[in-house]
Amino acid sequence: MTSPNTNKSTGSNSDSSAIPLLEIVDLHVNVEDKEILKGVNLTINAGEIHAIMGRNGSGKSTLSYALMGHPRYKVTSGKMLYKGQEISEMSPDQRAKLGLALAFQYPVSIPGVSVSNFLRKTVNAVRGRDIPVKEFRLELKALMAKLGVKDEFLSRYVNDGFSGGEKKRLEILQLSMLNPSLAILDETDSGLDIDALKTVSEGVNALSKADTAILLITHYQRMLNYVQPQFVHVFQDGKIVASGGSELALELEDRGYEWVTSEMQPTPGTGPNATKTSSSSSSSSPAVVGAK
Ligand SMILES: Nc1ncnc2c1ncn2[C@@H]1O[C@H](COP(=O)(O)OP(=O)(O)O)[C@@H](O)[C@H]1O
Ligand SMILES: [Mg+2]
Repeated sequence: MTSPNTNKSTGSNSDSSAIPLLEIVDLHVNVEDKEILKGVNLTINAGEIHAIMGRNGSGKSTLSYALMGHPRYKVTSGKMLYKGQEISEMSPDQRAKLGLALAFQYPVSIPGVSVSNFLRKTVNAVRGRDIPVKEFRLELKALMAKLGVKDEFLSRYVNDGFSGGEKKRLEILQLSMLNPSLAILDETDSGLDIDALKTVSEGVNALSKADTAILLITHYQRMLNYVQPQFVHVFQDGKIVASGGSELALELEDRGYEWVTSEMQPTPGTGPNATKTSSSSSSSSPAVVGAK
């Protein structure tokens, strides 16, 4: 099968079983006229957990920004289909309403805006209706208890003077409130001590149980001790060069990234599917996903 039809939203909210949640095909993205993504292929189905690992500067954050529609990241060719709809031309809030959410690698602070106001505005905007304050509080408090976020958090300004761990907890709290169909977590593990890492991971696992697909972008394997991906992809120089199961993460931890290029470069048919771009739109999934 090729990608599910390019024509707009046909059947997107009925019988979605045949349509991948996210299908990225040969995606090229420029940042300030420099090509950063050079043919990314990736397919994610509802409820799956995928990890993308790769060196700094390989383009992982660029992929997450491109998915969310940051205006600086220009799609020059390829496709990004979400629930069967092309999203490249959509605004970030349209994408959020479709169910995409991103936890940023570097969350920004918003002095003057309290956490509780910020969360309520965001959640109302994405859900498209004003949730009664009481109902909102109840939902929020339950999640805060789970994520080990203290009450005093709510009246503080967003990320203003927050520690690294507090910022990441807030990101997960926000994601959980949004209840997206795909949560993208960009280096959510960075800067976390072991306790924070555990609680944040529990939050991610709870999201996953609620049938949210997860795209976990990470440089290190350690978060994958707590959040188990079914699929691991290696990102290099703007594209996915290898994919496999969770054992691939351990191998990367063990051996670094260098061996991937020499041993796993496109030799279709051996090991977890090494990924080739383009010209693969016929036959099965062009994207990826190594067996397992
Ligand atoms: N706003 C930007 N302006 C110019 N170059 C950028 C910008 N954002 C990212 N890049 C470049 O794109 C490449 C990939 O960066 P990034 O996606 O942040 O990688 P990663 O998240 O894997 O560390 C790097 O070479 C980086 O310098
Ligand atoms: Mg990054």
